[in-house]
Amino acid sequence: MKKLDIDQTFGNQQVDSQEREKRIRSVFNKVASRYDLMNDAMSFGVHRWWKYKFAKLAKPQAGQIIVDLAGGTGDVAIKMDTADNTVLIIDPSLAMMQAGKKRHNIECLAMKGEQLALADNSVDTLTIAFGIRNVTQMNKALEEIFRVLKPNGRMLCLEFSKPQWWLKPFYDLYSFYVIPRLGAWIARQPEAYTYLIESIRRFPDQEEMKAKMEAIGFTEVSYQNQSFGIACIHIGTKK
Ligand SMILES: C[S@@+](CC[C@H](N)C(=O)[O-])C[C@H]1O[C@@H](n2cnc3c(N)ncnc32)[C@H](O)[C@@H]1O
Repeated sequence: MKKLDIDQTFGNQQVDSQEREKRIRSVFNKVASRYDLMNDAMSFGVHRWWKYKFAKLAKPQAGQIIVDLAGGTGDVAIKMDTADNTVLIIDPSLAMMQAGKKRHNIECLAMKGEQLALADNSVDTLTIAFGIRNVTQMNKALEEIFRVLKPNGRMLCLEFSKPQWWLKPFYDLYSFYVIPRLGAWIARQPEAYTYLIESIRRFPDQEEMKAKMEAIGFTEVSYQNQSFGIACIHIGTKK
């Protein structure tokens, strides 16, 4: 039997990290053209509110260099882009970035979070929305984010998290039964949305993510639950 290099999963299957990366890339390439529509359908538009708050907390300012990692179609980057700052979208999926080009003119770079071809201490703010969950080597990506941030630079991460206990039964029903059907109907990719649900389940909860960021070296680490913990905004500073 083939030995797995580290414990990696895709959906319910155990796969090695290369295979996981390949499958994740394929998921986003396949859903790219319908990704924005699907987000609206799945969240009843609430993701727009989460992203609005997220971009506001990033406090984009004149002269800053802001990287939106795992930026996909640019939904978050658009909200931070102004005439007097530089916003870059970084994502390994060309299809996702291409799909966003209908809506913006922001510069896009094809790279994965584990290997950022950016200089040390070069970025004022790095945002990552619904992206860190898809990164195969999360600690490596967090180290890279830490490396490229300037001293006093901030990382902001918007990600699904652990909802409050009373919401969990409804949330489980919705995510296991409704989302894959919506994925089949709208994005025509039910497996992609089954992956989405599984990856959310396996993702660290609020406190675990905070501890991970602190272990990398981030300080002033805090989080803000969104919609009773369905999503969460994590913020950390590089001192
Ligand atoms: C759910 S989408 C989020 C897109 C966008 N940030 C948003 O909120 O609409 C996740 C994105 O993560 C990207 N991604 C997957 N693996 C990645 C990696 N190793 N490093 C950086 N981004 C990755 C995918 O290509 C995809 O565009």
